Amino acid sequence: MHRIAPSILSADFARLGEEVRSVIAAGADWIHFDVMDNHYVPNLTMGPMVAQAIKPWCLRADGGEVPLDVHLMVAPVDALAIAFAKVGANVVSFHPEASLHVDRTLQLIRGEGCQAGLVFNPATPLDVLEWVIDKVDLVLIMSVNPGFGGQSFIDSALRKIEQARKLIDATGRDIRLQVDGGVKVDNIRRAADAGADCFVAGSAIFGQPDYRAVIDAMRAELAGAG
Ligand code: DX5
Ligand code: ZN
Repeated sequence: MHRIAPSILSADFARLGEEVRSVIAAGADWIHFDVMDNHYVPNLTMGPMVAQAIKPWCLRADGGEVPLDVHLMVAPVDALAIAFAKVGANVVSFHPEASLHVDRTLQLIRGEGCQAGLVFNPATPLDVLEWVIDKVDLVLIMSVNPGFGGQSFIDSALRKIEQARKLIDATGRDIRLQVDGGVKVDNIRRAADAGADCFVAGSAIFGQPDYRAVIDAMRAELAGAG
């Protein structure tokens, strides 16, 4: 099943709750929440208090919960990972370079009852995955360098998605394979064909007046992909 995870990094921060509600009404499967610390990446965004404020908005009209997918671009990781878990994050993912003890951080996140994700930058190999894949619920392949919305998709990510898909399939476990950065209607199918099943898109969705039109167009592209 394909999931579309709009990144609220490109939403109107002055109306964040309404933006979350609108994009859910437009068909968002997950809400992707980008946390940047001006240290691990050269930008500063939102902390646990903002996640806590939008959590009550992460509901469908029928009352169903929409997962809050927290992407940590911070160093160190552990204390913030716990803080986001405490305010209701469903998924917490982090970059292995940002944690001194990746295995411990994964255990910490799962110990809080969240799904744990590991994020790979464009120049980062998948090597660590081999050793911790049993503790991972989501693999996120960055198709831009983390830090900003609105950048162009880096094509080598497709090859890395293919590699990650093989590693995931070999486990036989249900692990999400997410792609993040520069995802648009015109390249989402290529990411799906490479093996991705969860698609983060910020500017492509929030940069347009009609969120539903973009999400529908993305789903039309995905229809029929493996
Ligand atoms: C980049 C973030 C992304 C970003 C994607 O560091 O992790 O989630 O919001 O934005 P677009 O879709 O505009 O590349
Ligand atoms: Zn992200």
